[in-house]
Amino acid sequence: MTDRDPIDLLVQHHARVREQIDVLAGIESRLQDHDSASLELAAREAGAVIDVLGHLGHLHALDEGETLFPRLRLVGSLPREVTVSLDRAERDHHTVSPVWPVLQRLLWQLTVPDGTLSIRDFREARLSLKEHYLPHLELEEQIVFPAARRLIAPGAFLEMVDEMTRRRREPHGVDLVAVP
Ligand SMILES: [Fe+2]
Ligand SMILES: [Fe+2]
Repeated sequence: MTDRDPIDLLVQHHARVREQIDVLAGIESRLQDHDSASLELAAREAGAVIDVLGHLGHLHALDEGETLFPRLRLVGSLPREVTVSLDRAERDHHTVSPVWPVLQRLLWQLTVPDGTLSIRDFREARLSLKEHYLPHLELEEQIVFPAARRLIAPGAFLEMVDEMTRRRREPHGVDLVAVP
């Protein structure tokens, strides 16, 4: 694997998103424990999930929506399965956008000492995020990414990595490898 391959980078992002989905399930079990050590750990984990999903999720959606998908659409006569999957992936990006802020607000509540939180609300928001994300990641990995590897010219791959790198340097001066 090379850090100059944009599809490898996108797959790495997916792995980090899946990890966070598992961490969210762990946070829910800690909340059910009700003891102070578990709640402190849940608060720390909640802060880390906000950092990773909020920051990486935003950049990753731009990597796909502004860098990968438009290049794939430029390929002449795309197979119908790929066009349909691209349409669906783009729609998913819009439908997930109201789901994350709900969960993010609950995670913030968790990081505040003595913040009250409904475990039921947390579970609902966590499952909603999971149900939106997992099939979306699968669709991209099964259809969109392999199509990109087959159909996008190698020269465009280098441009894509450059764009993704610039995107990370614009607001924060963060290196692509340090914060995927
Ligand atoms: Fe996506
Ligand atoms: Fe993705």
